[in-house]
Amino acid sequence: MTSSENKTTQTLAQLGISSAEQITPLFAEIQAEFDADASKEFIEVLWKEFRDQWLGRKSGILSRITDNWLKPASPELKRSVGAGLNQLRAHVEAKIEERRLSIEANEEQWTRAHDHFDLSLPGVTRPVGSHHLIRQVFQEIEDIFVSIGFSVVEGPEIETPYYNFEALNIPEFHPVRDDMDTFYIELPKGAPSPLLLRTHTSPMQIRTMEKRQPPVRVIVPGKVYRRDNPDATHSFAFHQVEGLAVDTDITFCDFTGTIEYFVKQFFGPGVKTRFRPSYFPFTEPSVEFDVTCVFCGGSGVSAGGGTCSKCKGAGWIELFGAGMVDPAVYGFVGYDAKKVSGFAFGIGIDRLAMLKYGIDDIQVFFQSDVRFLRQFP
Ligand code: PHE
Repeated sequence: MTSSENKTTQTLAQLGISSAEQITPLFAEIQAEFDADASKEFIEVLWKEFRDQWLGRKSGILSRITDNWLKPASPELKRSVGAGLNQLRAHVEAKIEERRLSIEANEEQWTRAHDHFDLSLPGVTRPVGSHHLIRQVFQEIEDIFVSIGFSVVEGPEIETPYYNFEALNIPEFHPVRDDMDTFYIELPKGAPSPLLLRTHTSPMQIRTMEKRQPPVRVIVPGKVYRRDNPDATHSFAFHQVEGLAVDTDITFCDFTGTIEYFVKQFFGPGVKTRFRPSYFPFTEPSVEFDVTCVFCGGSGVSAGGGTCSKCKGAGWIELFGAGMVDPAVYGFVGYDAKKVSGFAFGIGIDRLAMLKYGIDDIQVFFQSDVRFLRQFP
């Protein structure tokens, strides 16, 4: 019990106070104790306790002063006790209210600091990357072919010679293998078959036809590998999209129409196509598709007046190889060559991307230089 509490449980007589002069110091003493208590650090609960200790109706110090000092006071003391009490009450009430306000303000600050995030603060920005240009071109090509009924399949980059060559009608000593002089994998002795990095996406023609019956309409985006010396247009790894359509009634017109549709979708309606006879062991007849040069518009003359450097004045750019599927290939996958027909093509993606986006060195696709990559967000 504090001394104020202690004193206020007794009457003035019990405290030995009989003259009015003693009243003022008595109240001053009580107020000093109150002031000392009131200046302590409070949190809300403690403040309530403190308030009740002083202002509580039944047993608060001020009520006790009324009951124990004022009421039983002799007529000579009553005035000064009444005045002292009024003055003390005004002081106590004002101070307690003041403390309440400051506790509320503090508490608010506290919760603001701890419970609330400032949503207006800038967050941590993580740079968002983008697809590699090659991936973007794959996507463009896939979208075009998917829109005309093709589906997308993918296959292994490590192949057996059977899928990469033999089943595509390229027997072991066929001279076209020279062009595709390849990367063979070193295998332990006794391995069932040699393995090599595929030199084109055409093995997926075979793998697809082995699994599915006609009608077949697929495209195959992927990486391929050849033992080329690196220069502005050659790399040991590059990208192709293979296409294959086989059904009972596919004609050469379906073939050229499909290719033309694709080229116009990809380069724009102004581009013309032409095909020239070519040779691939797995297509017959085989063709090479050309498009009018996208740089000089097919004129062969550059904007500055000289010979167009991209098509070397020809007005045409060689785009990709294709043809009607050679009936011999159907023999490898168990299709009846008398009943089915189809076409296949192999688009070189790096070349296509270089033409469309005016890139003059294939190596930039493999160097991962962000100054290049950022140009194609
Ligand atoms: N696979 C051939 C190449 O890479 C391209 C091709 C595909 C040709 C399909 C005809 C049919 O050169």
